[in-house]
Amino acid sequence: MSIVKKYPLGAIFAAILLLTACEKTPPDYRDPVTLPLYTKGDADNGALIYKDACSQCHQLNPGLNKKGPQLMNIYGAPAAELEDYNYSEGLATSGWVWDAETLDPYIADAEKAMPDSKMLSDPMPDAKERADVIAYLSTLRAPVPAVDDKAK
Ligand code: HEC
Repeated sequence: MSIVKKYPLGAIFAAILLLTACEKTPPDYRDPVTLPLYTKGDADNGALIYKDACSQCHQLNPGLNKKGPQLMNIYGAPAAELEDYNYSEGLATSGWVWDAETLDPYIADAEKAMPDSKMLSDPMPDAKERADVIAYLSTLRAPVPAVDDKAK
């Protein structure tokens, strides 16, 4: 067996490995939240509402996007920031930052707030419920995992 024959095969394998590694976008994370907690709502009640109204499409672990993007560290974050989620053009170019002022109309009726929204959730007309959900979202705070340092 000559080394010349073995080499191309090894190179092809390496290329295939590299290609498959590149196709998969690594899990993306939002920066830690710097805004203070939102206290005009009841976060505990917001957690219950979230479970009911949001969790079928959203979860809170980086890299595990469901129908919607994961929502860890969403409060104060720029909209459509995650590279491992495929956002609508509208949200991707909105320039929004998620604070109480932008979250409130979005949770109230996403399709009204964002005409080409990918988020097809039921409207939430009750302002108190929305304030509770926003209070809960503002408690979702995780440090950026160390693995992120490697990705950057
Ligand atoms: C039926 C599925 C569904 C439900 C229910 C849902 N969402 Fe979403 N959500 C989405 C999708 C899909 C997107 C991406 C929107 C886009 O790209 O236009 C999204 C986007 C978002 C974003 C923007 C995330 C980012 O990275 O910018 C926030 C914030 C959000 N949702 C909050 C909520 C909250 C709070 C609830 C519950 C009150 C909720 N969503 C309920 C599907 C859902």
